[in-house]
Amino acid sequence: MLQTKGQVDAVRVITLLDDYAGYETSFYAQHGIAFLIEVSSGEICKRILLDVGQSATPILHNMSLLGLEPGIVDAILLSHCHYDHTEGLVDMLKAINRDLVPVIAHTSIFRENYIFDPFIRNIGITAKNGPEAIRAAGGHLVLSDRPFEIMPGVISTGVVPRRVDFEQSGIGTYNLADGVISGDKIEDDLSIVINVKDVGLVILVGCSHAGIVNIVNHSKEITGIDRVEAVIGGFHLIEAPRERVIKTARALKEMEVNSVIAGHCTGLKACAELANQLKDNFELLQCGKILNVP
Ligand SMILES: [Fe+2]
Ligand SMILES: [Fe+2]
Repeated sequence: MLQTKGQVDAVRVITLLDDYAGYETSFYAQHGIAFLIEVSSGEICKRILLDVGQSATPILHNMSLLGLEPGIVDAILLSHCHYDHTEGLVDMLKAINRDLVPVIAHTSIFRENYIFDPFIRNIGITAKNGPEAIRAAGGHLVLSDRPFEIMPGVISTGVVPRRVDFEQSGIGTYNLADGVISGDKIEDDLSIVINVKDVGLVILVGCSHAGIVNIVNHSKEITGIDRVEAVIGGFHLIEAPRERVIKTARALKEMEVNSVIAGHCTGLKACAELANQLKDNFELLQCGKILNVP
């Protein structure tokens, strides 16, 4: 496995979209997620957008409230195929309005991904955001299943091995290929890991379908860094049994993660358990939340 070597001086994570608008804000909330990750390394400052919600409208509204122009985005990474992370893609690319913007994702991102309860529905990426539409809107697809550095110290995790026994795979979605319907493990679940000099890892996740503890373990493995400063995003514990929630909170506590910021699909009960176990090391995610490291 690739051992990453790079590190960055600083990172700022700006939450452009979450399910929660926050108390007394004018942000637009939506079931979905989008982070603007500003990375500083020497003279260089690059901005990566992790996920694009199910519509660009609230993201663009929230960016304008924060005084951010869409044109500042240098690359996009899609954490996985689900609509709440991908449907805003082409409209965001149009707003960015540049040629050859890297769009990084897993090789299977364009598969159809079905649920049948309460009724048949493809919750994966739609034709509106298919490869041709992405290219026509100025995107350049970079599809990889392996970890790689987007720039030194900023890593796309690639496929995350599922090793932790309490983080079972799958959320009841199905793939359809060659007329055959089969259970789906959301293998395309990718995250971003940033190795910040003298601080440790900052890990950004979409829905954590690979399991948040698996993702943190994998991040440590591919970077060779043990210290985790922050984990931020959706942990998809909203339907998880209580036992898994407790074990997850315990594992994050044992890893001594300084800042755990969870929202989107984490769920109220899981957030309460995380707050209970992690105390001041836990924060609720919301639109406009900014994390500066260091
Ligand atoms: Fe998802
Ligand atoms: Fe999600």
